[in-house]
Amino acid sequence: MTLAKIAGLAACLAVGAPALATAGATPHEAVTEEDGKFFNAEEMPTFMVLEDGTVDWYTFSGFRRYHAECHVCHGPDGQGSSYAPGLASSVMRLDYFEFVGIVASGYEKGNSVMPAFGTNRNVMCYVDDLYVYLRAVGSGAIPRGRPANRMDKPESAIAFENDCMG
Ligand code: HEC
Repeated sequence: MTLAKIAGLAACLAVGAPALATAGATPHEAVTEEDGKFFNAEEMPTFMVLEDGTVDWYTFSGFRRYHAECHVCHGPDGQGSSYAPGLASSVMRLDYFEFVGIVASGYEKGNSVMPAFGTNRNVMCYVDDLYVYLRAVGSGAIPRGRPANRMDKPESAIAFENDCMG
């Protein structure tokens, strides 16, 4: 379904740059834009922050989704809690596919459990948003807290959301 669609698209786009596709080597810099969605040199989703602090729609959306779905365990602003790791730093080492895989499938380690969200549309339809938001915080491109200004919601985000949320 949608996850396959997203991953499939990203995989097609990534074919040209296999040498760069290693965890930790991903630069955050946006080199292309498609209707308000930004991509780095590896064609992976990334954030955009303007000089006045305005963030792209997806980063803002990720902030909201994170605080609705992940905050309860992972702490505010991706900073971690006594129960679960700080995702703002996790995404600096996890690449896009590793992140999506963990969110979709979850895992257990000892007594702690990361739930699988693969069938939760409120999460999976916004998994790119979560990733770019957390990378924006983790890289220090945006401060903690709700971004004060954001770009308008792109037409393609509205269309994708309608399709994904079904
Ligand atoms: C019910 C609590 C809970 C919720 C809700 C939750 N997580 Fe987790 N998550 C965990 C725990 C606990 C771990 C760590 C498991 C371990 O390694 O011990 C984890 C681990 C992770 C990891 C791996 C981190 C790393 O450093 O390797 C990612 C990525 C992740 N979660 C993403 C998310 C996202 C995104 C959301 C929101 C959509 C979310 N989680 C919601 C409990 C939760």
